[in-house]
This record gives sequence, C-alpha cells and structure tokens, in this order.
Amino acid sequence: MRTQPRYRIQFPVNEVDHLDQDETYFYLVESGDRKKIRFHDYGAIYERPGLYEQLFYDRLKCQSPAKVASVLRASTQQAGVNFSELRVLDFGAGNGMMAEELSNHGVARLVGVDIIESARLAAERDRPQVYDGYYVQDFTELDDARRKEIGEWSFDCLVTVAALGFGDVPPRAFVEAFNMVQDDGWLAFNIKETFLDKSDRSGFSSLIRGMILSNYIELYFLERYRHRFSIEGKPLPYLAIGARKRRDLPMDLVGEVRA
Ligand SMILES: C[S@@+](CC[C@H](N)C(=O)[O-])C[C@H]1O[C@@H](n2cnc3c(N)ncnc32)[C@H](O)[C@@H]1O
Repeated sequence: MRTQPRYRIQFPVNEVDHLDQDETYFYLVESGDRKKIRFHDYGAIYERPGLYEQLFYDRLKCQSPAKVASVLRASTQQAGVNFSELRVLDFGAGNGMMAEELSNHGVARLVGVDIIESARLAAERDRPQVYDGYYVQDFTELDDARRKEIGEWSFDCLVTVAALGFGDVPPRAFVEAFNMVQDDGWLAFNIKETFLDKSDRSGFSSLIRGMILSNYIELYFLERYRHRFSIEGKPLPYLAIGARKRRDLPMDLVGEVRA
C-alpha cells in the first residue's frame, strides 16, 4: 500500500454546546489555511487520500466495518451458509472500507453503490482491487433500466455501514437496495442505538422497527458496540444487526414517514 500523507486535523473546542452527528465538523490545516469541513462533506474528505481513514479510524477509532462484517459472518455461519459465496451489494460504500473488510474475509462478489462520484473515485484510487463493480446512483431516482442493470448482479447480501440516518441514505433508497437482494439473502448494517427507540420519530427509525417487528426479516444477530468516539471523546453506541431477508419491503412502509 502506498504511503498516505498525514493531515493536520483540529477539532473545535468550546465553539458549540452540542452538535448533532451530521453537523459535526473539524478544521483541516493545509498550506497555512484553516478550512472548516463538516463530517458529512464527504466529497472534500474523499478527495484527499487517507483523510477519511485518519479522521474516522485513527483519531475517532471507528470499528464499524470490522464489527458489521463479523456480525454478517456469525449470522451466515449459524445458517450454515458459505460466506465466500456471497454476492454483496455495499450500499453507501464510500471509499471501500467495508469492502476491504469483506474481501479480507473472502466473498465472491462485491459491488459498491454511493450517491457521489468522489466516493467511487476514492475507492478506485485507494482500494482498486476490492470492487467488481461500483455505481454512482441515487436510489430514489432509479429507473427500470438501471434497476435491471444493477440487479443483474443477483445479490444475495446487502451491507450498509455508517450510512443510515443522519441525512445520509433515506428510507426510500434503503428499501430499493433491500429489494435488490434475493429472498433468503442476507443483510448486515449498523444504526445508532436510539433508532430502535420508540421515541425516535425519524423515518429511518420507523422503517427499521417495522422491518424487524414484522416478518420482512429474520433477526440473527444484534450487538451493541462502540461505533466510534465523538470529537469530545464520548463513545457513540450503535447496534450491529445481522438478519436474513424474508421478502421485499413494500414502498408504502415509508409512505407516511418523513425521510
Ligand atoms: C460515513 S460514510 C460510510 C462509508 C463506508 N460505508 C464506510 O463504512 O466507510 C457514508 C456514505 O454514504 C453515502 N451516502 C449518503 N447518502 C447516500 C444515498 N442516498 N445513497 C447512497 N449513498 C449515500 C455517502 O456519500 C458516504 O460515502
């Protein structure tokens, strides 16, 4: 692997009382300039090789790709399914952290989808070997031809890591991705712990609860763990979920809920 540049990253101190996860930002000191970059400004992060890894993995100790991959492995093992034969759709793939993890475990096919071109470019640049295909596509705007084209990979597994909620993947797009997986296929993802709480009224929370409490999926594995630290050094508790798909989700499950 080629040597990555090291960046000067500074976290804001005493500037704000409380920021939601999607409002969090950091400063990047570059060529004498101090740039403010939001955590969700993925384009600005991906275009700098190694910045995503330095920020989320070295500084904030993100462990989600490894955790979700292990939950998927444990789930398939329970059912006696051969992990290395899975054809995986990595939704909200970014620059390929999850795909790298899965390819270390050995899976047959890995296809990434992200909504921004800079994610695909970064995956090609940083992990050129891991994906068999990578699509830049907004799944809320899929037409039949594109749905068919991507569906031709015949996925039997969907993974989505650090991409659900907080203004990233909306429920409608998740349902499209879920429905691209064959019945009896596998699903592994992570969500913020509070997304299973009834008091959470967001669209995503309702969708996930509806999916689990109904028989759209069969739950195999649920583990609470630390996704990463916040910039204040607090652990962010998440749930890693491994499940088996039973049948397609109807789009009206997200009909009445807010994206
Ligand atoms: C925090 S990153 C996670 C990337 C990768 N899964 C990982 O674990 O490193 C979230 C990713 O979700 C992508 N994303 C956000 N909204 C999306 C959408 N509607 N459809 C597909 N990808 C989306 C972002 O562009 C970003 O690459």
